[in-house]
Amino acid sequence: MKHIEKAKVISNRYIADDICDLVIECPNIAKEAGAGQFVEVYPDNGENLLARPISICEIDKTKGTVRLVFRIVGKGTALFSELKSGDIIRVLGPCGNGYRLMEDSKKTALLVGGGIGIPPLLETCKELECNKIAVLGYSSGSFLAEEFTRAGAKVYISTDDGSEGFKGNTVDLLKAEDIKADVIYSCGPKIMLKFLSQWAMERGIDCYVSMEERMACGIGACVGCVIPIKDGGDWTYKKVCKDGPVFDCKEVIW
Ligand SMILES: Cc1cc2nc3c(=O)[nH]c(=O)nc-3n(C[C@H](O)[C@H](O)[C@H](O)COP(=O)(O)OP(=O)(O)OC[C@H]3O[C@@H](n4cnc5c(N)ncnc54)[C@H](O)[C@@H]3O)c2cc1C
Ligand code: FES
Repeated sequence: MKHIEKAKVISNRYIADDICDLVIECPNIAKEAGAGQFVEVYPDNGENLLARPISICEIDKTKGTVRLVFRIVGKGTALFSELKSGDIIRVLGPCGNGYRLMEDSKKTALLVGGGIGIPPLLETCKELECNKIAVLGYSSGSFLAEEFTRAGAKVYISTDDGSEGFKGNTVDLLKAEDIKADVIYSCGPKIMLKFLSQWAMERGIDCYVSMEERMACGIGACVGCVIPIKDGGDWTYKKVCKDGPVFDCKEVIW
């Protein structure tokens, strides 16, 4: 069940030049949230802007908090970057269908994140109780990587400019290191998800991708976020906000 809550800002800080790490107290949302879901955050500045979808990076059900890590790209995220501890914001969630987590502790889950697609994989990594490998791709430098190590993953980093780890993209890194896994959970740019899906399908590995699409209502009411999805021998449109954001890569029409 979704809740709309007046969430109290617990902390808000920069973890990179244009990336903020926001922790908010919203006990009803935190109680029901799971890995791969997102919240809709309202920019309440009097301009009546639409809510912005942001993935849940971490959930603390005991404290009733969720952590959101976001890149400042426009009006809404710029407003969120200015929030101070004690401020109140309206948040709707938990939204969408997240990752179905593998339960076999002897198997290996591979988490593949690209850029601002990395945050939802941290909660996923923490909830998984199997062997974990995280392949994290950045344009330059890195963020959150040590937290994946602390959550029990063997971490590989790729950067476009070679400033950290492997020089190149995540899929090239997977090939170079010949990484093996039983299931893949991924989030990042569509082009990365497309090539990752090909790599996974060639090896017969189940792969779940979190798709990003521009959203308006965020709750399945406006068809603003549809993507084409295979449907038997045919295809249909599905809503990223309600049917996703996580889809089996075999269903997605790239
Ligand atoms: C399911 C989902 C999870 C996301 N998780 C994160 C996250 O964890 N961290 C993060 O930094 N970003 C995330 N995004 C992208 C984030 O929603 C956009 O960057 C943000 O809405 C931009 O708002 P803005 O006002 O700053 O930019 P503007 O460009 O001014 O936004 C204008 C409008 O377009 C919509 N919009 C713009 N870009 C996007 C986008 N990429 N996806 C969806 N709607 C968009 C906005 O919601 C708004 O309605 C996620 C998107 C989706 C769909
Ligand atoms: S954003 Fe309205 S249906 Fe998905």
